[in-house]
Amino acid sequence: MMIPPAELVALIAVFAATVSALTFSVPSKVGTGGYSYAPLEEAPVGISFEFFAFPSYFTNVTSTEQCLSNWKDLAGVWPPIRIGGTTQDRASYNASTSAYVVYTVASPSDAPSTLTFGPKFMRLANTYGGSVVLGLNRGKNHLSNTIDAAKAAVSEMSNLLAIELGNEPEYWKSDGQPIASGTWSPATDAASQNNWDTLVGNAVNRTNIIQAGNSNSLPPTWGAEELIATENSTVKQYIQSYAHHNYPGGTIQSLMTHSTTVSNIHRFDADIAAALRVGKPYVFGETNSVSGGGAAGVSPTFGAALWTMDYALRATYSNMSRTYFHHGTVGNCQYCFWGRYSMGAPYYGATAAVALLARASYLTALDTGKTNYAAYVTFDSAGTPLRVLLYNSDYYAGSGTRSSTPFTLTGLTMDSVKAKRLTAASALSRPDQGGNPSFGGQYFNNGTCTVGGTEMYETTAVSGGQATFMLKATEALLVYLQ
Ligand SMILES: *[C@@H]1O[C@H](CO)[C@@H](O)[C@H](O)[C@H]1NC(C)=O
Ligand SMILES: *[C@@H]1O[C@H](CO)[C@@H](O)[C@H](O)[C@H]1NC(C)=O
Ligand SMILES: *[C@@H]1O[C@H](CO)[C@@H](O)[C@H](O)[C@H]1NC(C)=O
Ligand SMILES: *[C@@H]1O[C@H](CO)[C@@H](O)[C@H](O)[C@H]1NC(C)=O
Ligand SMILES: *[C@@H]1O[C@H](CO)[C@@H](O)[C@H](O)[C@H]1NC(C)=O
Ligand SMILES: *[C@@H]1O[C@H](CO)[C@@H](O)[C@H](O)[C@H]1NC(C)=O
Repeated sequence: MMIPPAELVALIAVFAATVSALTFSVPSKVGTGGYSYAPLEEAPVGISFEFFAFPSYFTNVTSTEQCLSNWKDLAGVWPPIRIGGTTQDRASYNASTSAYVVYTVASPSDAPSTLTFGPKFMRLANTYGGSVVLGLNRGKNHLSNTIDAAKAAVSEMSNLLAIELGNEPEYWKSDGQPIASGTWSPATDAASQNNWDTLVGNAVNRTNIIQAGNSNSLPPTWGAEELIATENSTVKQYIQSYAHHNYPGGTIQSLMTHSTTVSNIHRFDADIAAALRVGKPYVFGETNSVSGGGAAGVSPTFGAALWTMDYALRATYSNMSRTYFHHGTVGNCQYCFWGRYSMGAPYYGATAAVALLARASYLTALDTGKTNYAAYVTFDSAGTPLRVLLYNSDYYAGSGTRSSTPFTLTGLTMDSVKAKRLTAASALSRPDQGGNPSFGGQYFNNGTCTVGGTEMYETTAVSGGQATFMLKATEALLVYLQ
């Protein structure tokens, strides 16, 4: 068959573009190849629990412990958790209540407009094997009550990493929070934070105890850079870390597109740099796909799972120390990784990210961040490559032909490599609707989060230090180099 010259040229051009864009050279050692390397905490991927719902998740949702312990099995340590959210600024401490938390709601799908909590709340948090960030109330402007709660947290919780003083203060004016009754702006909030950080830190006699910031509105108006510029050394000594919240939103397709995620994370570059300059970690203290509990058509899908994976990794690559994915009202939470009865697709993506990062010391990204295709590499403590994660964020919604793209890795030193595939029927797949994703052939059981199915690795031959992997649109592959 004759191929007309014009089409041949076009074909060659497409082939050449694909090959050059999707050949990634795996650095032989950390620090080489002109890439940027992020040092890793033991467990960069964490979970945030809405304040009032935390006791339910820990006492009355079977999957919670298993979902967290699946990650401990991979990483060797329990994932970090944060307890907080809008209801932390509706909560008052009551030292004499024997309940974890006391509130009434009209419907189980509601969040309470006011609540109290007792010392048992902190004792429950202290049963957890990982670190805990606890969010306390500033909005109510009831300093002595918050100091009482902070003292109880410090004395009851051996796993307490930090205390937040207020959640998303930029919304307090419209929420009618007493502390924002006069002028309320980034500057007045910063002065308030600095004052409270000093008073609470002093009252509990702990430095490095406050997770500051905690805004959702974008930097530089609200954020660490703006806050740090207002802090003297007395305030700084009480600060453990700076946190920002983030809910990128959008359609499934825009959410899961790699270049969109990279642009979204770049909005925090200056804030991260400002925190690192004063020697403090920067975290996403509360984040997920779409604000307000998630969007029904977006947040529970496999596309959102792939976003979760890529986003956690890109944030970590950008030197965010930890990323806490938020979990709201049990039974009314589109973006939750698990619920009482069923699994959420995003857990699969987060688990793939945890599997890449597990027991690793450094992370780099080999891609430009400008296309649909990503390649991340982790390194062990000796600086040797450990694993590679490849991501094809081309959108496949279940109809028509599903394209496949070759990803070539060079610089490999073994004869063959094994890999685990993260896949599902389409970007719209949801486990609660029968569209179970799989990771290495395995799935997570509804209601328990136990692993089901047989673990499956694919083996690919390496020739001349190169191996090529086919990734379908809307798929990821975790390649094991050791
Ligand atoms: C646990 O959850 C179920 C289902 O929502 C509810 O009926 C029950 O009261 C809860 N139990 C406790 C101890 O919270
Ligand atoms: C605190 O808890 C005690 C014991 O349940 C209760 O009697 C008291 O009314 C509570 N105080 C507030 C302010 O809720
Ligand atoms: C530092 O800032 C805190 C909080 O605004 C304030 O209470 C303290 O007086 C300041 N210290 C100095 C030495 O300026
Ligand atoms: C505060 O903590 C320091 C050690 O961190 C200790 O030396 C000091 O006695 C404590 N002060 C009070 C008032 O407990
Ligand atoms: C992250 O921090 C390391 C130093 O610890 C630095 O070498 C690297 O360039 C930073 N990454 C980014 C994306 O800025
Ligand atoms: C989870 O439950 C849904 C709805 O009943 C079902 O379709 C799906 O197959 C279940 N997933 C697993 C892994 O059993």
